[in-house]
Amino acid sequence: MNKKDILEIKTDFLIIGSGLSGLYSAIYASRFGKVTLITKSSIQESNSYWAQGGIAAAINEDDSIEIHKKDTLSVGCGLNNQEAVNTMVTEGTERVQELIDQGMNFDRAESGFDFGIEGGHSRRRILHALGNETGKAVVDFLCKEVERNNKITIYENSFVIDLFSDFKTCFGCLVFSDKEKNKVSIHSKATILATGGGCGLYSQSSNPSSTSGDGIALGLNAGAVVKDMEFIQFHPTVFSKEGAQNFLISEAIRGEGGQLVNHSRTRFMENYSKQLELAPRDIVARAIFNEMRTNGEKNVFLSLKHLKPSLIKNRFKNTFELCLREGLDITKDDIPVSPAAHYMIGGIKTNTSSQTNIKNLYACGEVACVGAHGANRLASNSLLECLVFARRAVDSAVKLSKKEVKIPKNLIEKAKKCSLISSDKKVESYLNYRILLSQTINNYVGILRNKKDLLLALNEISSIKRTNLDEFDLIDKRLMNLKSLTYLITKSALLREESRGAHIREDFSNESSKWLKHINWKLNNGTLRFSYSKQ
Ligand code: SIN
Repeated sequence: MNKKDILEIKTDFLIIGSGLSGLYSAIYASRFGKVTLITKSSIQESNSYWAQGGIAAAINEDDSIEIHKKDTLSVGCGLNNQEAVNTMVTEGTERVQELIDQGMNFDRAESGFDFGIEGGHSRRRILHALGNETGKAVVDFLCKEVERNNKITIYENSFVIDLFSDFKTCFGCLVFSDKEKNKVSIHSKATILATGGGCGLYSQSSNPSSTSGDGIALGLNAGAVVKDMEFIQFHPTVFSKEGAQNFLISEAIRGEGGQLVNHSRTRFMENYSKQLELAPRDIVARAIFNEMRTNGEKNVFLSLKHLKPSLIKNRFKNTFELCLREGLDITKDDIPVSPAAHYMIGGIKTNTSSQTNIKNLYACGEVACVGAHGANRLASNSLLECLVFARRAVDSAVKLSKKEVKIPKNLIEKAKKCSLISSDKKVESYLNYRILLSQTINNYVGILRNKKDLLLALNEISSIKRTNLDEFDLIDKRLMNLKSLTYLITKSALLREESRGAHIREDFSNESSKWLKHINWKLNNGTLRFSYSKQ
């Protein structure tokens, strides 16, 4: 085949992304037809893999779906979609039970599961595995099934360039396939976006930098509505030592008694919340930020010295080893921590059947925004959300996307023009811009926001239009996507003139009933436009 031609393949279910939602939907969809699973890295590598805390599910004796729902709503600060919360906590228990029945090993204590607790939970309900390597354990468990399933074709190290869409219907995607060393057009009856979030866009993040919101940009460019982008959840405790890599210090450690102290080794959470270290994440992150700012320090500490060394070494083996590599024995030494971007609450707007506004396009997991988390996510609800809405995406696709699709000729012709080879100069400029954008949102669209900083950030972001961007050049396309995403986060944060959940404005410090609404974004003739909605 001439390299300029595009290979074309057909599938029933096209799944983009290989975190928990992608793997789970691939396995479930394989019961109904042929599945093509695309991932930009390997199927073992995803943000889900790094999830530590675990999966929250109301299956402990003293717990109930109602209590889990109440905790989720209370943390979500009035913006949750009640139907989505109900669906997640109810079906979540069924999905988790199925995993257990299929042989997934969650950690056990003598009397049953060893349920953990994290900020905002009123019960011990967090199932974990391999201590605090829950993401790894669940991903490995599902990967084995994906690899032996002959209905699933996997394309690893393959980058999706565009969805084929006429802004009403999605027909599949154009991907650079490492396997074919060429562009491939995939015609699919149903396309499920399961690419994860975009908190790796922040220069200080608990996510790998590859978590760059690609799926949100793909959806946006295909005409999907994107919402709630101002709600970026900051994790209170990310390892923070000069010259060392950031990594997550799980909230589960505070669940087992870890205490936050400032540089004078004084506990400070009692000044901020009666729930102390187990207050909801936004409160703890803000308290730490405030301590750091007041004392002019770059971090606070998490102290575990009063805990049994055996608990630390067994339950949090991974954290113990990672810190040891940085020269700290956390049974004796305090851990330097500071807040960092962790979870993107907003994303592609879906209903509770995981449908987007584009026919045959579905989304689930962190790339989607079904509204289950409201303005702030309850810890360990995200893996639960992945399971529930991945299955729902497949169920919807089975019901609604039965017909063969054919990618319109004009879209194929456009795809042929897309160039995968960019000049070194372009690549270098892309990398520089990426650093600029990630530092800009980190410095000006962080935990505490204000109009002046947000306007500064918008100014930096819009300065990128001065370069000549070519829509057919892959690198330029990626730059435009980064620019769109950082713009949506910043502009939404500027529009929302109140403080609610994960979005805190110094200049509008209270919640306002006027803002019991959502900011929606859509691409309209090449321009991003916003509107408000109740849901
Ligand atoms: C953690 O282990 O602290 C992270 C869990 C989560 O983000 O839900």
